[in-house]
Amino acid sequence: MENRERALERIKKCEPIAWANEDKIPSSLALRGTAVSISDVLDAQARLDRFAPYIALRFPETGDGIIESPISEAPELASAISEGYGVEVPRLLLKRDSDLPVAGSIKARGGIHEILALAEGLAVKEGLLRIEQDYSILARREFRDFFSKYSVAVGSTGNLGISVGIMSAELGFDTTVHMSQDAKEWKKSLLRSKGVTVIEHESDYSEAVHQGRDMCESRENCYFVDDERSSLLFSGYAVAALRLRDQLKSLSLEVDSDHPLRVYLPCGVGGAPGGIAFGLKQIYGDSVHCWFVEPTHAPCMSLAMVLGRPDVSVSQFGIDGVTEADGLAVGAPSDMVWSMCHRLIDGIITVEDDSLYELQYLMDRDQGVKAEPSAAAALCGLTTLEPLPGEAAIAWLTGGSFLPEDTYKSMLKHGGDLWRGKR
Ligand SMILES: Cc1ncc(COP(=O)(O)O)c(C=O)c1O
Repeated sequence: MENRERALERIKKCEPIAWANEDKIPSSLALRGTAVSISDVLDAQARLDRFAPYIALRFPETGDGIIESPISEAPELASAISEGYGVEVPRLLLKRDSDLPVAGSIKARGGIHEILALAEGLAVKEGLLRIEQDYSILARREFRDFFSKYSVAVGSTGNLGISVGIMSAELGFDTTVHMSQDAKEWKKSLLRSKGVTVIEHESDYSEAVHQGRDMCESRENCYFVDDERSSLLFSGYAVAALRLRDQLKSLSLEVDSDHPLRVYLPCGVGGAPGGIAFGLKQIYGDSVHCWFVEPTHAPCMSLAMVLGRPDVSVSQFGIDGVTEADGLAVGAPSDMVWSMCHRLIDGIITVEDDSLYELQYLMDRDQGVKAEPSAAAALCGLTTLEPLPGEAAIAWLTGGSFLPEDTYKSMLKHGGDLWRGKR
């Protein structure tokens, strides 16, 4: 594990790092006076519960209308990683947001929550809805007609656009997603098939967000979902932690100082991993160890963490931001998330794209789990950090089930070739 100076040198050269956060303080202190509070997270949870009857009606694949993913043990994958990389691997669980219904990624809870908050606020203000009512009435024509007078815009590398776009278009909002050049063609096609307008920017993700924000500000009745600054997104992401607590209880997995839990979270702008880390630290305090993972070519949060300031971009250091982990292809971190997390999280790791492909291949081969390269980043911590005594680890698989089969097959082939080539 590197110290701060060495980590910075390696980040600049796009070499992998594992940096234990030297600025971390006890979570009870780091959680004081934050921009988002636990009551915001509980509000988000209650809002998602209120909308469950509507979601169950419009997205029957969710069953009860709660958009949640399974968690599962992964002993075969743990053995493959242990043997293949010559490391000790603790009890391993996969949190499979890759299989999250409706939107297929970790961005769903936050993105969908913000759209539901918007719809609820507008409908209540108009006198069309009371929060005690059964929200399945939102599927009625009159609500769609009402929402169609408003537009929604968002900038996205792909998965936030899918989450916001699907829910916003379903409710009837006129929806535009601004995408960066890294965004995958299939994600754009999927959105267009749902009636969403996709604007492609010949720039990176941060620039797409800025241009989208400016375009929205110049329109009347346009609401911008701001991936870099939104507390509604953040509190929606954090709801995952409350639900994970219940899932761990049902697995009889204890988390305390003798049974630490390490959680590996792929990081782009920081909102989704930051929200989850925030929620988990509220529940488990310092017994949960949250590590973010980024690609070596888009290490924006790593730079911000190691330098101790959020106003950084990878281009300032001549780093190209190009990675196959499209969800993590972000040049600048969220200022808001950095402020909430820089003294809270346990560390940050960067990983090369080749390792992502290998781990994606192993997940499919040994555990039958389909995940995208961004999600495979969650497994890299296992190849890097030695387990703590009594540790259980969660690799947060952040997306993947929506990957088209032909794209997925060619990724697996590449990963398999890399894996065999090195062994
Ligand atoms: C699959 C996947 N994993 C992780 C992330 C990281 O989330 P955030 O950008 O909020 O850090 C994203 C972001 O879009 C994603 O699509």
